[in-house]
Amino acid sequence: MFQNIYQIIKQRKSYRTYSRQIPEASVMEKLKDATEEGMTEQMLQLFPSMPKLPDIKLIKITGETVPPSTYGVIKGACIYAIMGISGNNSKQLLTASGILFERFILRATELGLATCWLGGTFGKSTFQKAYIKAGGNGNVIIVSPVGYPASNMRFIEKLMRTLVKSTSRKDFDALFKFDDSSDIWETDEAKLIKQQIIEILEAVRLAPSSRNSQPWRGRVYNDNTLVILDINCINPDGKFACIDMGIALCHLFEAATATELSLTPLNVDYKTLNFRFSVTQRTKPVKKTL
Ligand SMILES: Cc1cc2nc3c(=O)[nH]c(=O)nc-3n(C[C@H](O)[C@H](O)[C@H](O)COP(=O)(O)O)c2cc1C
Repeated sequence: MFQNIYQIIKQRKSYRTYSRQIPEASVMEKLKDATEEGMTEQMLQLFPSMPKLPDIKLIKITGETVPPSTYGVIKGACIYAIMGISGNNSKQLLTASGILFERFILRATELGLATCWLGGTFGKSTFQKAYIKAGGNGNVIIVSPVGYPASNMRFIEKLMRTLVKSTSRKDFDALFKFDDSSDIWETDEAKLIKQQIIEILEAVRLAPSSRNSQPWRGRVYNDNTLVILDINCINPDGKFACIDMGIALCHLFEAATATELSLTPLNVDYKTLNFRFSVTQRTKPVKKTL
């Protein structure tokens, strides 16, 4: 569990210029642990039949080693996290990789370190070699620099952030809808759970995505005895759709844990990237008479 997941989510942003300072040994130790953290039991419910989880390795760039290529996008980073997956690039596996790597990124943020998801602007063969050398097996699909940010951003970094409007996110109401057609949200208990669901969806809203595309949408409604949260993807066949949705699910589950909500998967469809959950308060199940 994270100390303050909402704070960490707000704090995280992509950094592309680093100070070359290597984190001290105790921080490196925790970072290494973060690569092996895996998923929570609630998260694992989404993957009943997954053969092998993606694997994350850390590499250190020393004075003698030539850093693997990021086509000049990243400068000054001395550490990279590299994630590889074994087997076919199934949507299930890619979604799992989004969850796992974002958990790692959030841990690094908690440790006061800067990161940047890279799915496109890295030299595949140079990172693949470094990954194998570090003991990884599988195909590298995502990497991230890890370290302390330089005091100034380079022009190219500012430009990249402007091009995809990295600092902004779509409005809450453009992404998520509550079914207000009946008076289901009228009671005090219902108002509380609605507020808690708004909080965990806000954690999803702030998630990073490739080109800041924010492909997730959500609907909350009442189905007989249950409060249902339906999370969808607007472009399920997009290049990074599964990974982006994995990131959103990571934020959703971590925020739910902090907010004392339980999410029970009712339907998981990897073809359309639709995830339907029933939402309950951990201490007390939501009653029929919301
Ligand atoms: C799956 C994925 C792939 C990404 N690939 C790249 C990349 O190849 N190069 C890059 O500079 N940024 C990349 N990004 C970073 C996004 O552009 C960035 O997360 C987004 O614009 C939001 O900005 P923020 O992270 O500062 O909140 C990627 C992000 C994700 C989630």
